[in-house]
Amino acid sequence: MEWTPEPHELADLELLLSGAFEPLGGFLGHDDLHAVHERGTLADGTPWPAPVTLRLPVEVHPGDEVTLLDPEGLPLAVLTVTAQEADGLTSGPVKGLGTPEHGPFARLRRTPAQVKEELGGRPALVVTLRGPLDDLSEIVATAKELDAVIMLLALSYGEGGPAVVRTALRAKERLPEDTLVVSVPLAPREEPEIDLELREHVATAYGATEHLAGPEPVSIPGPPHRRGLVVFFTGLSGSGKSTIARGLRDALLELGSRTVTYLDGDVVRHLLSKGLTFSKADRDLNIRRIGFVAAEVARHGGLAICAPIAPYAATRAEVREMVEAVGADFLLVHVATPLEECERRDRKGLYAKARAGLIPEFTGISDPYEEPDDADLVIDTTHITIDAAVSQVLGTLRSGGWVR
Ligand code: ADX
Repeated sequence: MEWTPEPHELADLELLLSGAFEPLGGFLGHDDLHAVHERGTLADGTPWPAPVTLRLPVEVHPGDEVTLLDPEGLPLAVLTVTAQEADGLTSGPVKGLGTPEHGPFARLRRTPAQVKEELGGRPALVVTLRGPLDDLSEIVATAKELDAVIMLLALSYGEGGPAVVRTALRAKERLPEDTLVVSVPLAPREEPEIDLELREHVATAYGATEHLAGPEPVSIPGPPHRRGLVVFFTGLSGSGKSTIARGLRDALLELGSRTVTYLDGDVVRHLLSKGLTFSKADRDLNIRRIGFVAAEVARHGGLAICAPIAPYAATRAEVREMVEAVGADFLLVHVATPLEECERRDRKGLYAKARAGLIPEFTGISDPYEEPDDADLVIDTTHITIDAAVSQVLGTLRSGGWVR
């Protein structure tokens, strides 16, 4: 079978295959459950600080071969299963397929063996970094004391990875000429001690005589009016969300301080989601597509307004996560006009048809709508004008600093 692991799993896989995770070398998980589940020791007693694991959502059996793909479908490695636990955690030896690496600064992603060869037995001071090194004097002094080559290991996993490598390259300019810069996609671990131990571990694999951990980066987000923003309206058909969303778009265009992308539910279904039905699976796919586009807009600092029904809480939460993952903000506006009022208005005549059984799976009538409990703003349009509703949203954008 084939499987595309999560990005952090792929990063671990790369380090596993490169030898940076020795002594695990090419082995995913371990028969020794301690090594799989938590920091512990391998079967031979070697301490191992953090699990390198892979979860498969399907059942596999010892001896099965799983081809691991990158997100573009390129085969990276073959896993021969030795065991799988109930939660999908799968272990076994992995064999790399020697696929050429790509991505920013791929030429700086070197294996421990390559780097050690370049060191040629000289002592090395390895500095692992995830952000700027504000003080190079300690590094220089320590390297002198040890008579060691300085090696900057840029921990380049994730969105901010290229920026970390650029930081390392800039630091190199102010360090001795033989300073090495190596990019290692080590994903950060949640627990700081485990993270540090793993950094030590990888540094050792790269030939460190001594290891210095660079300071934790302080991420200072830009001001809200420069940050990406997704305003996500959710509510029943006929609740007024499209009308308010359009009003918001127009008001923002009049102000002119931000670019706006408008993703209305009905409009999206004409092209981006054309052909999708109103089954749960298709609605979820529709919302994920909207979320994907909105997150791309927000990644570049844009403002996206979305206005689908989005009846499922879990899917809305997924979109929130997608948006926040690119460093942008997500604002959920629940247009909470009650069903009775939406049905009384019945602008498109759809409720009458749904009641007559002509439209199956109609939200609110024969299909669920999960009320949000995480809305940043709730608007019931029963007794207020559209202008007043738009003003409420604009007010929220102003007070949050997203619009000046
Ligand atoms: S969602 O559930 O996937 O978020 P979306 O916002 O794209 O829905 O589309 C909702 C619009 O499709 C409604 O405003 C209505 O005009 C139309 N529609 C057609 N069939 C249905 C249905 N079964 N349930 C809800 N809306 C429907």
